[in-house]
Amino acid sequence: MILRGAGGVAARRPRGPEGSVRRMRGTHGWWRTAVVYQVYIRSFCDSDGDGLGDVDGIRGRLGYLRDLGVDALWVNPWYPSPQADGGYDVADYRDIGPTFGTLEAAKALIAEAHALGLRVLLDVVPNHTSVAHAWFREALASPPGSTARDRYVFRPGRGAGEAPNDWRSVFGGPAWREVPGADGEPGEWYLHLFAPEQPDLNWRNPEVTAEMLDVLRFWFDLGVDGFRIDVAHGLVKHEDLPDLGRDDEVLMGGPGDEDHPHWDRPEVHEIFRGWRALADAYDPPRVFVAEAWVPTSDRLAQYLRPDELHSAFDFTFIRAPWRAAALREAIERSLSAHARVGAPVTWTLSNHDVVRHATRLGRLDADPATALTALGGPTDLARGRRRARAAALLLLALPGAVYLYQGEELGLEEVEDLPDALRQDPVFVRSGGAVAGRDGCRVPLPWTRSGPSLGFGPSRGWLPQPTSWSGRSVEAQEADPDSMLHLYRRAIRLRQAHMTGLDSELQWLELGDDVLAFRTTPGVTLVLNTSAAAVPLPPGDLLLASGVVDGAALPPDTAAWLTSP
Ligand code: GLC
Repeated sequence: MILRGAGGVAARRPRGPEGSVRRMRGTHGWWRTAVVYQVYIRSFCDSDGDGLGDVDGIRGRLGYLRDLGVDALWVNPWYPSPQADGGYDVADYRDIGPTFGTLEAAKALIAEAHALGLRVLLDVVPNHTSVAHAWFREALASPPGSTARDRYVFRPGRGAGEAPNDWRSVFGGPAWREVPGADGEPGEWYLHLFAPEQPDLNWRNPEVTAEMLDVLRFWFDLGVDGFRIDVAHGLVKHEDLPDLGRDDEVLMGGPGDEDHPHWDRPEVHEIFRGWRALADAYDPPRVFVAEAWVPTSDRLAQYLRPDELHSAFDFTFIRAPWRAAALREAIERSLSAHARVGAPVTWTLSNHDVVRHATRLGRLDADPATALTALGGPTDLARGRRRARAAALLLLALPGAVYLYQGEELGLEEVEDLPDALRQDPVFVRSGGAVAGRDGCRVPLPWTRSGPSLGFGPSRGWLPQPTSWSGRSVEAQEADPDSMLHLYRRAIRLRQAHMTGLDSELQWLELGDDVLAFRTTPGVTLVLNTSAAAVPLPPGDLLLASGVVDGAALPPDTAAWLTSP
């Protein structure tokens, strides 16, 4: 592998507006302070005009990611899949879906990214396969009690069409589906915590453990730098599959759910110790970032003990209200829980599962938990974008790693008025349209001001873009020095240049309840004003601000970076 020190590759990188050369991270520990860009492949860039993004589309835009200044990209599932859940229903873990490209194209992408100093993370989906996976087809063709069925969670029903237990699917409805028995006998049921097309694997079966390690090895051997782990907290189920006793369709247990029968079971940690040992056996070591929806920072930190995973998304900002005091409390809680296990925090504002934060932050009087998934509430997009700019500066000043979701650097909003007929999220389909689902944050990116899909591809994309996205396109924002895109570029470059020692503690400044302010080591002060009135800035030279700073006054919903005196 290629990324070693600040060698030739780094030297070829373009100089940023501040005149700094972007630093190439060392081989070890790069992930502790990385800025990673999430590529939702279906919607990033379509090279062949089938309306879906693809591997060659990503290859054509690597220069954009380099210029943005990120360290790595995380590509959402690109495997062969019937696409019952946007590719999170994997039919073959060792290949690329034909709509996305070929294995050869994927290898070329990895090499080209590395040559530009970008690392590549993939998405592994270990909790469930697709019903189209060879194992599941074999399981259906095999009798109850067979080895093939034991790779999944098959159980007899409780009689008269009643499922084995009361668990609910995260996507709505029961978490079990019945399959026909032989010769008119009652059939067994299989567990699916998500869509019925996503049968859960049985992680108590050693064959499953071995197979998934081998899948990781396959991609690591191709040079992939690491994996985002889908539903990491869900792999192991309670041995007795006891009733939950409530009608619960959420992605995690609640506070006090120390013994949830299928979320965050203690047994998952042993699996990840095995994964870490494999990743550490590579040179350079490969890395993991977990999607683990657990109720508290302390529970999350357990996934990050030294012999377990490197990192896990901290969903603080996805759940916290926009108030300085609340943000500070959440940040402190996350930092101290992670410090206890020596892990960096992995901050994020958005991903492909939640309402885009330009919309969320503009919601009027919304409870942040509801704002996460609920659509259609009143929102003030100008305010949302102003806050989103400020939030970007907050995030990028924090110690730890930052994950950006494609399009947030353009300030894209949630598309809330997609026609029902075009919606593909199983959440929408399974709720009979009652829940709009996640398509609105997955609308194809606008690259140019015009064209059938604003430069996403040569034809229309799989979802239509709002016409106003012409003005939010990369082309339009390139031309505007005050655009969100330029703010992100400057902030990322400044972070790389001045804040590489970020994996350390914060020094809080007390500037009032509505002002979040801290000093990082070394030398940068962040000030964020969440009040409705301007506040005075502390001493220091202004490095960057998310809005117009007049004299020494920081306007509402604005953040600034200052040199620390
Ligand atoms: C994760 C993914 C989400 C998917 C689900 C089931 O939460 O981020 O998109 O639907 O897992 O795989």
